[in-house]
Amino acid sequence: MLYIGIDLGTSAAKLLMMNEKGEIQKIVSREYPISFPAPGWSEQNPEDWYAACLDGLRELAAAAGSEKIEGISFGGQMHGLVILDHEDQVIRPAILWNDGRTVEETAYLNEKIGTAALSSYTANIAFAGFTAPKLLWLKTHEPENFKRIAKIMLPKDYIAYRLTGMHTTDPSDASGTLLFDVKNRCWSSHMLKICGVSEEQMPVVKESFEIIGTVREEIAVDLGLPVGVKVAAGAGDNAAAAVGTGTVGEGKCNLSLGTSGTVFISSESFQVDSHNALHAFAHADGHYHLMGCMLSAASCNKWWMESVLGTEDFQGEQEVIGELGENRVFFLPYLMGERSPHNDPMARGTFLGMTMDTTRGDMTQAVLEGVAFGLRDSLEVARSLGIQVTSSKICGGGAKSVLWKKMIANILNVRLDVVACEEGPSYGGAILAAVGCGEYPSVEAASAAIVKVIDTVEPEPQLVEKYEERYGKFRKIYPRLRELFQQMG
Ligand code: XUL
Repeated sequence: MLYIGIDLGTSAAKLLMMNEKGEIQKIVSREYPISFPAPGWSEQNPEDWYAACLDGLRELAAAAGSEKIEGISFGGQMHGLVILDHEDQVIRPAILWNDGRTVEETAYLNEKIGTAALSSYTANIAFAGFTAPKLLWLKTHEPENFKRIAKIMLPKDYIAYRLTGMHTTDPSDASGTLLFDVKNRCWSSHMLKICGVSEEQMPVVKESFEIIGTVREEIAVDLGLPVGVKVAAGAGDNAAAAVGTGTVGEGKCNLSLGTSGTVFISSESFQVDSHNALHAFAHADGHYHLMGCMLSAASCNKWWMESVLGTEDFQGEQEVIGELGENRVFFLPYLMGERSPHNDPMARGTFLGMTMDTTRGDMTQAVLEGVAFGLRDSLEVARSLGIQVTSSKICGGGAKSVLWKKMIANILNVRLDVVACEEGPSYGGAILAAVGCGEYPSVEAASAAIVKVIDTVEPEPQLVEKYEERYGKFRKIYPRLRELFQQMG
């Protein structure tokens, strides 16, 4: 039996096909555009996602040969606002997770409704990229579009809907809307009222591993898929990535280095960070997790390499990097503002500390280290809650760099357990499909059977010490610039 996981990412859809033992058969990827209509805004066209997914599915169906594709599921970019009218047509481009336009709406929610009330309704407070402030923005700035909304969806749920005809979501992705009562895994009537929407407009919530339907026959025939392929609800990309790295059950950690960067801590019981700096979300294994999310992680390196240096030779640029722990240049990775822990859409990317002898390599190193320091900021919040993190899995495009993993292990002072498949969301999506189809009794059982650790990166005491000193300096920079970022607009 074959299972497909679709990672509906920000730069591309990545589709992974594995067999029931978790052995990868094929991975295909299709890119799509992203538009930045104003500084700090970001949008995508759901039709582009769907076309990319269909194209990828067609290629996988052809590669499957005589083996049967049994199930499909997802790990999807979270928080995006996708709205459909009564004819199920997309009303406007999706407003993405890293869009910072809702400064006023976020402030309204946190200050007028109040963080205590928000936290009691949802276990979270408002962050600019979450779905609820986007609905409020729409109500004010595009009232005609707001009135036309028949269904509110998250990105991967739109694909699931196009494939199956079912309007569903799952608790992990629903958690990021700020419309969801995370503890009780249902929509919050308080939040729906605050945002002026009704439960009928929301998708039905199914657990990530539950089957929501089958691929519609005409689509299956067109793509060359067998008729009756089952579709499981899937998860937000971080929860799916956690499944794909075995970060399920109690107290495990996963770091994801994709467009965003996340620190994800799984938990069997519901818990809230009393300062709400970490997100308290539902997990795809039926339990919960805490998460810190930085908005620009591997995307900082991609921006620096491709847009600034004009090269695609990421590896070559890293080879000239000097000794670790000695770099005097700092980089603040806030190219799209920052979510965790600063909650500041106005924060901006910044280089600091260059001198005439600063090299291109120093700047590249500063970018990689700046992202690692940003992850450390979220990890420190978890540590301040008494959560001990001494080891972690790691996944995402950035995790392919041996140097970056070494920096992260030493800057965070954690042992990194490197898994055989670092794909994260697509692998987790395929595992959720296998669970949904009855191949495994639970997500935990599937992850335990499938995910393999093949290497470890140990922190080195001397380097940890050097980086400790650098991190002490890094964390002083943002508070001093905060006011300036606000003034610069
Ligand atoms: C998580 C988040 C990002 C996106 C990236 O809260 O916003 O990780 O899911 O796709």
